[in-house]
Amino acid sequence: MTSTLGVDAVVLVGGKGTRLRPLTLSAPKPMLPTAGVPFLSHLLSRIRAAGITHVVLGTSYRAEVFEEYFGDGAALGLEIEYVVEREPLDTGGAIRNVLGHLRAEHAVIFNGDILSGADLPALVATHRDAGADVTLHLQRVADPGRFGSVPTDADGRVTAFLEKTPNPPTDQINAGCYVFRRSVVESIPAGRRVSVERETFPMLLESGAHVHGFVDSSYWLDVGTPDTFVRGSADLVRGLAPTSALPGPVGESLLLEGASVSAEAIVDGGATLGRDTVVGAGARVSGAVLFDGATVGAGADVRDSVLGAGASVGEGTVLRGVVLGDRASVGAGCELLDGARVWPEVTLPEGALRFSSDA
Ligand code: GTP
Repeated sequence: MTSTLGVDAVVLVGGKGTRLRPLTLSAPKPMLPTAGVPFLSHLLSRIRAAGITHVVLGTSYRAEVFEEYFGDGAALGLEIEYVVEREPLDTGGAIRNVLGHLRAEHAVIFNGDILSGADLPALVATHRDAGADVTLHLQRVADPGRFGSVPTDADGRVTAFLEKTPNPPTDQINAGCYVFRRSVVESIPAGRRVSVERETFPMLLESGAHVHGFVDSSYWLDVGTPDTFVRGSADLVRGLAPTSALPGPVGESLLLEGASVSAEAIVDGGATLGRDTVVGAGARVSGAVLFDGATVGAGADVRDSVLGAGASVGEGTVLRGVVLGDRASVGAGCELLDGARVWPEVTLPEGALRFSSDA
């Protein structure tokens, strides 16, 4: 299969996704259902749309589930290869570990938990035109103080990798997507943990390598936390985030096969109701993600929350910004707020009010 863009894609999907626990206890983060399909499907759809067909997945945590779902990639018009790290090698080590599978002179590397609308052909063209060793997608954000920042000079060359500070000198941040020249991949030490952000990039700058920036301000979201995961899913459902992998039309909600919603319930805000979910009379489900088989009782109010597979919410219960693990059960008349997380299989009894981690 030939890739019209003339590059390989490498997607890093080996992280443990600790910030999304307990959802990531049963599935790796890139496989969590997001707008009805695994999150990774959205990224792969963008890779294919950009004309890249050869994709190498760098896996470690729960490695087998990726191949079980995506197989050889032919159904998506891709050729997918899987490389497994016996021990997690971190981002840079993971890139070095796929070297033997790269076919082209340049590879586009993706963190597997980013939703982005960046123009990938333009990113590759910038890298080629600049003759760079590495080109980073740099995202302009409204709140750069929350991230490390990456300034560039008038020619677009990266001048520094700065730690998080309250008043960074630029609003450009590392967006978790890079083009690497093959020789740079070769230069990463093999067989040990290497952080591309903390070790590889600063070393490249120090050694005088040409590190370039591709600055962009289109849609961008790191879905690695519960609140951004919910927001990303809702943005996909509403057509605000780019994808070609939605299992239904965009709108205020996405209902998968067998989802049953009472005529007196409201489902909106980009909510996704997975297969065989049930929403009772007078309930409201807004901007939330219900995995397969989750149930919401009559009169309950579930907002900006994730309900794991088979989780249940009792009558009149209020959830805001909450994660319920698979088959967790919250009884009637409860109120859980602000980042509360209920572990899989745990049952909270009726009327247990305000279980909030931040309260
Ligand atoms: P947290 O534990 O919640 O921070 O999530 P994470 O483990 O996914 O880490 P992080 O969000 O920093 O990782 C960024 C990207 O790199 C994600 O797509 C991860 O899957 C991937 N990643 C992180 N560590 C490794 C690793 O050791 N090996 C591989 N192959 N990928 C990794």
